[in-house]
Amino acid sequence: IHKEQKNAIQLAPYKEDTMKKAQIIIDKYFLTGKVDKRIFGSFIEQLGRAVYEGIYQEGSPLSDEQGFRKDTLELVRELQVPIVRYPGGNFVSGFKWEDSVGPKELRPARPELAWGVIENNHFGLDEFVDWAKKADTDIMMAVNLGTRGPEEARNLLEYCNFKGGTYYSDMRKANGHAEPHNIKTWCLGNEMDGPWQMGHKTAYEYGRTAAETSRIMKMLDPEIETVACGSSNLMMPTFGDWEYTVLDECYDLVDYMSLHQYYGNAADDTPDFLANSKGMDDFISGVVSICDAVRAKKHGKKRINLSFDEWNVWYHSNAADEKLKKWGQAPHQLEDIYNFEDALLVGSMLITLLRHADRVKMACLAQLVNVIAPIMTSDTGAWRQTIFYPYMYTSIFGRGTVLNTQVLAPVYDSRNYCDVSYLDSVCVWNEEKDTLTIFAVNKSLEEDLEVSCDLRQFEGYQVKEHIVLTNDDMKAVNTETDPEKVVPVKSAASRIDGGKLSTVLGKHSWNMIRLAK
Ligand code: AHR
Repeated sequence: IHKEQKNAIQLAPYKEDTMKKAQIIIDKYFLTGKVDKRIFGSFIEQLGRAVYEGIYQEGSPLSDEQGFRKDTLELVRELQVPIVRYPGGNFVSGFKWEDSVGPKELRPARPELAWGVIENNHFGLDEFVDWAKKADTDIMMAVNLGTRGPEEARNLLEYCNFKGGTYYSDMRKANGHAEPHNIKTWCLGNEMDGPWQMGHKTAYEYGRTAAETSRIMKMLDPEIETVACGSSNLMMPTFGDWEYTVLDECYDLVDYMSLHQYYGNAADDTPDFLANSKGMDDFISGVVSICDAVRAKKHGKKRINLSFDEWNVWYHSNAADEKLKKWGQAPHQLEDIYNFEDALLVGSMLITLLRHADRVKMACLAQLVNVIAPIMTSDTGAWRQTIFYPYMYTSIFGRGTVLNTQVLAPVYDSRNYCDVSYLDSVCVWNEEKDTLTIFAVNKSLEEDLEVSCDLRQFEGYQVKEHIVLTNDDMKAVNTETDPEKVVPVKSAASRIDGGKLSTVLGKHSWNMIRLAK
């Protein structure tokens, strides 16, 4: 048991024969930082049925005049997604953006090597910009630093952001977009540390390319921000050295370092699976340390913040994907059907991102539609997967300032982790709206958790609602024919008495408790 957890048990004693107890400690003057709404971002890759049949389906009665699926757009707006990364992912490392613009009948079909499919380019850059407007979201655009380099990235930026009177900006105008797209956030390639990546590089090669690409792009548009690729996941053998070397080359020229991580539960060990939010927490702290080490070495003034631009659960579809034939068009790839326990981990991961709001400024749930996604579609409709709900509630109500939330709770050991808190929790205070929102996951599979929180500094606050996501069956899923198997319900378990919040978090449950004046 960690020292701090020993203290926790002293502060919040419980007898084995009574309910497990925990405390959430907050102080309105102890702040982690303001939430950058972009941490509730998501991701659309030209992959599987994310675009084709997901957000775009020409000729479908479910689509609008531009071929955009209206049912999908409605669900995306429900999530209030602030930014969407596009067009990849592994796809971007072979992307010829020029193929994806101009009259559709002239766009070439190409073999797409990252996912072994045919890309017909019926949906491309300009369509995505139009779709993003309708979805009320910003764009995080990635450039190809795999098979291409700074020149093509510069041309793409000119096409997107230059006002007019030049070759590529006039091309955009001729393609029907008189006004610049004004895309502010640019990823410098994707997972360039991965041997699977087209144009995979060593850290030094990538660091130099990222530096020069960012420098040239900022010469054209000084308003943009750029994201350098970090490791593809924490277990990469180059993790640590990669981040350090890359930043050593490009520290002054970029603004963010990326992190990617997916978790699976192939061993069917739920306590260990749910403990992965601790792994995510360690990953973030590690990358922050490396960024700050390079800063110290360089006597740097600015800080590099983090863009956790791919995160989710991903493993259900692996076996099916291995059997897929090559060179199909928009096949069913990476179609994970998420169950209830996946929603718990997604809820915990969102809490983890919020707890690092001081340094994590962007994050993308990967992905948004059909491909490892909260939203699924068929020819007849769209529905919400289990993970939709923690994502939606945290995106809508997790905006404000994160309080430096101390959680005192009992802990457990799992196969891969020690001292895992049964309780993941964070408080977000929205001073303007006078609201305080507590997100909490009770990871215990056996016991409810009695939780208290001293709220005397938040005089007059009352419990407005307590929303719970739980299910008797950890493997329950939502499907097109049974879309409401796992849905949130209201709870009456929270009350405030004498300035103290007390609540009960049911075993294996995700919770949102909203307090307001
Ligand atoms: O999101 C699916 C894939 O996962 C992305 O294309 C890649 O960047 C990552 O490995």
